[in-house]
Amino acid sequence: MAGRIPQQFIDDLLARTDVVDVIDSLLPLKKKGANYSACCPFHNEKTPSFTVSQDKQFYHCFGCGVSGSAIGFLMDYSHLSFVEAIEELASRAGVEVQREQGYEPTQPVRDLTPLREMNERVSEFYQQQLRQHKSSGLASEYLKNRGLTGEIAKKYQLGFAPAGWNNVLSTLGQTEVAQGVLKELGLVVSNDNNKTYDRFRERIIFPIRNKRGQTIGFGGRILDSGEPKYLNSPETPLYHKGREVYGLYEALKSSSKIQRLILVEGYLDVISLSQLGIAHVVAALGTAITREQIDLMFRSVSELVICMDGDSAGQKAAWRAVVNALPALRSGRQIKVLLLQQGQDPDSLIREQGLEHFERLIDEALPLSRYFFSYLTERHPLDTIEGRASFLEEARPLLQTLPDGAFATMMNKQLAELSQVPQSESIKNQRSTYRVKKSNAGSAKQSPSVIRQLITTLLHEPHLAEDISPDEEWLLLEVPGMEVLQRVLSAIRTSSGITPAILLERFRGSDIERIITKLFAEERLLVGDSMRDEISGAVDKLKKQVGQSRLEYLLSQDVDLTISEKEELRAILLDNSLRRVEKN
Ligand code: UTP
Ligand code: MN
Repeated sequence: MAGRIPQQFIDDLLARTDVVDVIDSLLPLKKKGANYSACCPFHNEKTPSFTVSQDKQFYHCFGCGVSGSAIGFLMDYSHLSFVEAIEELASRAGVEVQREQGYEPTQPVRDLTPLREMNERVSEFYQQQLRQHKSSGLASEYLKNRGLTGEIAKKYQLGFAPAGWNNVLSTLGQTEVAQGVLKELGLVVSNDNNKTYDRFRERIIFPIRNKRGQTIGFGGRILDSGEPKYLNSPETPLYHKGREVYGLYEALKSSSKIQRLILVEGYLDVISLSQLGIAHVVAALGTAITREQIDLMFRSVSELVICMDGDSAGQKAAWRAVVNALPALRSGRQIKVLLLQQGQDPDSLIREQGLEHFERLIDEALPLSRYFFSYLTERHPLDTIEGRASFLEEARPLLQTLPDGAFATMMNKQLAELSQVPQSESIKNQRSTYRVKKSNAGSAKQSPSVIRQLITTLLHEPHLAEDISPDEEWLLLEVPGMEVLQRVLSAIRTSSGITPAILLERFRGSDIERIITKLFAEERLLVGDSMRDEISGAVDKLKKQVGQSRLEYLLSQDVDLTISEKEELRAILLDNSLRRVEKN
């Protein structure tokens, strides 16, 4: 791995890329007026609201609100990482990706290929062992008893770690280097006496693959009812269990247009469901479901069904998953929850009741909103003030983690109704993702909407920044969003001919990335005649605001004013009264 990709290279690459070509090669577009359109690949729709602008070099969906540059599209649609998306665009443009020289990463960059290759070899070894009847009699028997076919075992690359302390060690760890790699992958372990041996012995092996199909770790199930039921790979440079879900590669491969993923608890649930006809199913890896796992899944689909076992562990897991998912619920994304009955898991259920029954349960799963309130109201009696208060206390901070939008608004409305507290009260202290800095310029009215409008307009029409001189007084107003506005302005000024897409990419990974993307996706997109008027209108308002806070300052100083300040005060007051006359 080499150094970081320079910003200039990304700018240039975007400048020579046509987002219309890139998207059209993956998702055929139709010309529609000045823009191109298609049915949105990120949410379910029948009439196209996904729009690509050649001018601005970005896409936007009026339905679900997603938007971004060619890089963003490749990341979301083709499930690529940022660097992979750059590499893809570079290869389309026929250029080589530049890397910064002498870049000192905080962690030494390391080539993980030997680890990857070893994992593949070990996985192959375990699979071979399962196929060899001699060593795996019991294992194949076990799988057969659980109703699994050879075909499904092959699809999920199931394997078998035979009995014995050094099968993997002696077959694949002959050199010291290889042994070191096996140790790092957690496939062999050393005890206190410096004895080294295989981690997985006499267990069915479930290779865990990442989204790209690379084997990153293993789970091993015991053949009888012994303990522990599962052993898993530890965290390694390749495997971080909180960031992966089991079965995603297979689910995505099963069809190019899946809209929904079902998240279950166990490896065997995934495999059973898949065998019996539900291909889009994944499992958490024996941990509480994390935000990273939710994001990973939402990068591929717009709907998640969280389907947990009917025991108390399952109930808890579902609630924690929902709590962790709230901040990811931007518009167009949906979560449903299906809690099975006590003693059931998806594997037993589909085998006992059949595919159709299971599919119906999935279709009827509770929308997150219903689940959220019913979970909480079961725990807080709403017929007493005490109950409603504790309900409000628990629900409010959770709802505050939702991204702004219609869903958040409606959830807060429901909260207000259930707690019988007016909405303005119930959502007090609502965090605003937009808040940057509190105003302390007198009591000047904050104008987030004006600044917001200004930023949004500039993001879409960066060239209009030329209308704003860098030394205007109002740029010093301490109002929310000003800092963001200044950063946008200075990004625009650092290079000529910047497009909205390049601008957007400038803020990727920065602390204001989310604000920028959000403002970028805001209303009035892709129309652009009165943009210039809008800028001057917004600037006028801000100038007035400077006047207003100056006025307040002057009035508060009343007695100690200098002569010139007194004149200034008179002028402002006169101006104001004239304006009032004009209005009437
Ligand atoms: P389950 O006990 O539900 O396992 O645990 P399962 O996969 O459905 O297996 P069967 O049907 O009982 O044979 C759910 C998941 O929790 C993790 C595994 O990822 C498992 O698939 N787990 C469970 C562990 O990591 N270790 C354990 O000891 C138990
Ligand atoms: Mn199970």
